[in-house]
Amino acid sequence: MKVNLDQAEAILRRGGLIGLPTETVYGLAGDALNSDAVVSIFETKGRPAFNPLICHLHSAEAVRRFARTPPSFESLSTLWPGPLTILLPHNGSIPSIVTSGSDLCAFRVPSHPLALELLRRLDRPVAAPSANRSGRTSPVTAGMVEDQFPNLAVLDGGTCSVGLESTIVLCREDGVEILRPGRFASEDFEALGLAVHARSGGVHAPGMLLRHYAPSVPLVLLSPLDMPEPGETESEVTGRTAYLGFGGKSPDFAADEIWDLSPSGNLHEAARQLFFYFDRIAKSGVDTIVTELIPEQGIGIAVNDRLRRAADFAGRRNAGRILARKKKDHV
Ligand code: TXA
Ligand code: MG
Repeated sequence: MKVNLDQAEAILRRGGLIGLPTETVYGLAGDALNSDAVVSIFETKGRPAFNPLICHLHSAEAVRRFARTPPSFESLSTLWPGPLTILLPHNGSIPSIVTSGSDLCAFRVPSHPLALELLRRLDRPVAAPSANRSGRTSPVTAGMVEDQFPNLAVLDGGTCSVGLESTIVLCREDGVEILRPGRFASEDFEALGLAVHARSGGVHAPGMLLRHYAPSVPLVLLSPLDMPEPGETESEVTGRTAYLGFGGKSPDFAADEIWDLSPSGNLHEAARQLFFYFDRIAKSGVDTIVTELIPEQGIGIAVNDRLRRAADFAGRRNAGRILARKKKDHV
C-alpha cells in the first residue's frame, strides 16, 4: 500500500513501520526511540537480534545530540547527506535493542529528499535496515518492497539512485576504518585528509558475517581462475541460464539470456542496476544466474562485495567456471 508523506509521518509517530525511500536502498523504518516499533522491525524482517540497526537523522547536528564525536567527524560528516553510515559511541539515549547492546551506534543522514523531509519533521532517530527479508536482495523500488512485504505502507520515492547500501565506516580519531564498501571508497575519505586504516578486527558489522543479498534463484560467480582447486567438486548448473555481464562483454558459454549491468562500462550504472536486475532476472523464469566480477575500483569494490556474498563465493566459483566451459564445448 502506497502512502504519502503526511501518512508516513503519522504511522511512524504512532509506532508503526513504513517502507522508506533513500538514495541507497529502501529501508524498513520505525521510530528508534520506541522499543515496540524496533521489535516489530526485527520480527517483520526475520532479523536476528544480534544484528543492530542504523539510526537515520536529518543532519550531523542532530547526530551530535546522540553521540560522542571524535575530531575526524567534522570532515567526515561533510559527506552527509549521502550514502555513508558512521559508527560512533552513543550517549546512552539510543535503546540497546537498536544497537544490539553495543556502545557504538550506526548513524546516517540520507540525501533522498523525501527521507530528509520526513526526518526533519520527526526530528528523532528513525531505525531502518534494508527493507528485505533477512538474507535477500535489498529493494531499490517501491514495488520490490511491496513484493517482500505486501501489507507494509510504502512511501514511494522512485528508483534508488545509488542502488547499493551505504558505505559503513568506524569513525576513529584521525580517520576511518571501512566496514562495508559502498558508494564512498578509500579515495573519497583520503580526499578529505582522513586516514583510511586497515581493518583492526576489533569492530565489525555483524550483518556482514551473514550470507547475504541472494536473489531468489541461484547465482554462480565465474572465477577469474581457470583451474579447479584439488578436491573441489562440480555442482550442476542446469535448466535455463542467464548471463549477467558488464561492459558489453559476451559470455564464453551458451547462455539462454544475456543481461548487462552497464553496456558502456559505467561502474555507477552497474551499482544502480545490480539489485534491480537480480529481481528482474529471477522473475524472467531462469533457473540460474551466471555472473562475473567487475573492475575492482571505486564503487566496483562494493558491487563485487555484493556479488561474492550473493554467490556464496567460496563454495561455487570453480564449479561455475568448469560447467560454463562444458556448456560451450557442447555448442
Ligand atoms: O544504505 C543503507 O545503509 C540502508 C538504508 C536503508 O539506510 N540500510 C541498511 O541497513 O543497509 P542494514 O541493516 O541492512 O545494514 C546495516 C549494517 C548491518 O551489517 C549491521 O550489522 C551494521 O550495519 N550495523 C548497524 N549498527 C551497527 C553497530 N552499532 N555496530 C556495528 N555494525 C552495525
Ligand atoms: Mg540489509
